[in-house]
Amino acid sequence: PALAGPRRGALIVFEGIDRCGKSTQCSLLLESLQKQGVPAELWRFPDRTTLIGGLINEYLQKKASLNDAAVHMLFVANRHEKRDEMLRLLAGGTTLVLDRYSYSGVAYTAAKGVPHLGPDFCRSVESGLPAADLVVYLDLDPELSAARGGFGGERYEKLEFQKKVRSQYGALADGRWLRLDASQPAELLQAQVAAAVQRVVEQAAAGEQLGQLWD
Ligand code: TYD
Ligand code: MG
Repeated sequence: PALAGPRRGALIVFEGIDRCGKSTQCSLLLESLQKQGVPAELWRFPDRTTLIGGLINEYLQKKASLNDAAVHMLFVANRHEKRDEMLRLLAGGTTLVLDRYSYSGVAYTAAKGVPHLGPDFCRSVESGLPAADLVVYLDLDPELSAARGGFGGERYEKLEFQKKVRSQYGALADGRWLRLDASQPAELLQAQVAAAVQRVVEQAAAGEQLGQLWD
């Protein structure tokens, strides 16, 4: 255990294709952490409120077109610009729940199939960011997510592309990810998430070091 300073918070990341239920699970988790008295914040990436996030928003809403490499760098920069604040909060004992993170960056850009924007390149530019203590991967067949009230019309919300994103997530996931079948009812998913999160919050508080991408 750490000898001095507060117990650090845990970095919990939710990943999955569009409309797999991430936002619902993130909110349920935040609520349950707060009820237990665990200091926690919910963030989402892209963070559309920053200058860089504003450009990303225009791109996603198809109001701006950008070259694939350029927009990739914006998503990456949008994480790096939040790095210091993330580290400060975690060190101060706040658990961060992230609705998407670097793993989305790799899966979505690699899904485009641009030769110079493959998974290895995408991973390399995330270097130096904190690694998740737990990645909760909500795995869902894109045919099912597409049927969930339809997509909202943003740039990536197309069935064929979502299938490619899913296969990139499949390649990226390692044995430490908590992969859940996202076609289950929200309450069942919530219980599985809560059990895993409790363990990593305890481990982080007990002094387990925060990792760095990619380790
Ligand atoms: P999303 O979380 O789906 O926003 P919303 O809940 O408002 O629909 O994020 C928007 C899109 O951005 C989503 O299709 C995934 C994509 N994305 C990337 O392509 N790269 C990234 O690095 C991130 C974080 C997201
Ligand atoms: Mg979306």
